[in-house]
Amino acid sequence: MGLFSTKIPKVGGAGLARHLNLLDITFIGVGAIIGAGIFVITGQAAATTAGPAIVLSFLIGSIAIGITALIYAEMSSIYPVSGSAYNYTYATLGEFFAWLVGWNLLLEYGVATSAVATGWSGYFRTFIETNFHLALPTALSGSYNPAAGTYVDISAFLVIAVIFTLLAVGIKESARVNNIIVYIKIVVLSIFVYFGLKHFDIENIRNFFPFGWQGMWHATSLIIFAYLGFDAISTVAEETKDPTKTIPKALMIALAFSTMFFILVSFTLTSMVSYTELDVPHALSFAMLRVDEPFVASIIALGAVVTITTVMLVMGLGFTRVAHALSRDGFLPAYFREVHPKYNTPFKVTLYGGLFLAILAGFIPLKILAELVNIGTLFAYFVVGIAIIVLRKKGLVGTFRVPMFWVLIPLNFALLIFIMSGLELHTWMRFAVWSGIGVGIYFMMRGKLNRDEV
Ligand code: ALA
Repeated sequence: MGLFSTKIPKVGGAGLARHLNLLDITFIGVGAIIGAGIFVITGQAAATTAGPAIVLSFLIGSIAIGITALIYAEMSSIYPVSGSAYNYTYATLGEFFAWLVGWNLLLEYGVATSAVATGWSGYFRTFIETNFHLALPTALSGSYNPAAGTYVDISAFLVIAVIFTLLAVGIKESARVNNIIVYIKIVVLSIFVYFGLKHFDIENIRNFFPFGWQGMWHATSLIIFAYLGFDAISTVAEETKDPTKTIPKALMIALAFSTMFFILVSFTLTSMVSYTELDVPHALSFAMLRVDEPFVASIIALGAVVTITTVMLVMGLGFTRVAHALSRDGFLPAYFREVHPKYNTPFKVTLYGGLFLAILAGFIPLKILAELVNIGTLFAYFVVGIAIIVLRKKGLVGTFRVPMFWVLIPLNFALLIFIMSGLELHTWMRFAVWSGIGVGIYFMMRGKLNRDEV
C-alpha cells in the first residue's frame, strides 16, 4: 500500500435518505455561493485593485469556475458520493493526493466560514448602528490592528461560536429553510440592482481600468472567493434523488444564476458611486446611503445579515463532514471520529474546530483569510482537473461528460494558474506552511490509515 493506493467510495455508504430534488440542491448551491464575496469583497477589491473593471474579473472567474463545475459534474455522475473532491481524488490519484485535497477542503470550508463571519460582522454592525444607534466599542469592532485601535472582531467571533454550537447539537439546515433564505437573497440583490441602476452615472465608470490590467488580474484572485461553495452541491449526492442526472444540472444552474447576479451587482455598485469610496466592510448598503436611499440601505444590511448566515451554516457543515471523513479514513486522529450519543453529530471536531475558526474570525482580517481560502481551494480544483484526465484514460464513463474536453481542460489549468498567481507572496507562503503541515501529518498517520472501502 503506497502513496498512490486508490479507494473507490461505496455509493450509499453513508446510509442517508434520498429526499432532495433539483430545486433543493440548486438552492443549496446558491445558498453557499452568494455571500460575503459579493456583499463585502467586491467593494474592497473594486476600491483597491480593479475599479469598475471588477466586472471583467467576475467574467474571467466565471469561466474558470464554470469549467471546474463541468469537471465536478462529470465526476459526480460517475461517483455520486458525499465526499466530493476528496473521494474523486482518492478513487483516481490515490491516498496522498486525496489527503492533500481533503486538507485543503478543510481550508475551503473552515477558513471560509471564518472569512464569511468577518463579512457578516460588517453588515451586522451597520445594521445595529443605523437602526438602533448601537455602536460596539472600537476595540471590539475589528480584527487585531492596534494602530487602528481594534483588537478583536467580537461579533465575528460570537457568530461562529453560535453556528458551531448549532452544528454540534445537530441543526442541519433543512432544505426548506435554505430555500426560503435563498429567495430572500434573490430579492435583496434584485432590490439593490433596481435602486442602484436608478443612480447610474457614466462618470463613475469612465475610468474603467484605473489600476490597469494587473489590478483587474489581482482582483480576479480575490473575488474568486465569491464563487466558492458551488461544490457543496456534490457533498449532498447521497441525499439526492437520481444524483447522476440531478447534480450536473444543479451545478450548472446554480453557477449560471450566481454569475448573472455577480455581474449585475458589481456593475451596479461601481456605476452608482465612485469605486474610490468602496473600501468599507458593508459596500452595498454604504452605496445606497451614499445615493440617499437610507431605507434601501437598511433592507440590504438586514438581508445581508440573514442571508450570509446560510453560507456559514453550509460551509461549517461542510467543514465538519470533511473532517469527519478524514478521521474516519484514519488521516486525522480517531479522537475526532467520535459521534455524540444523543445528537448523532461529530461533536468533538465540531467544537474544537469551531473554537479555532472563531479565533481566526475574531483576530484576522477578511482579506488574509479569503486569500488563503482561495489558494487552497484553487489547488484542490487543479488536482481534480488532473483526476478527470486519469479517469478518462481509465475509460470510465458517466452520464455527463465535459464537452470539448481537450480544449477546456488545458484552458482551465491556464486560468487557475493565472488566478492563483495573482495572489500575494504572503498568501503563497502561508499556503506552503499549510501544505507542509499536511505532508507531515500524512507521513505521521499513513501507518494508521483505514484502507478498507466504506
Ligand atoms: N462564496 C461564498 C461567499 O461569497 C464563500 O461568501
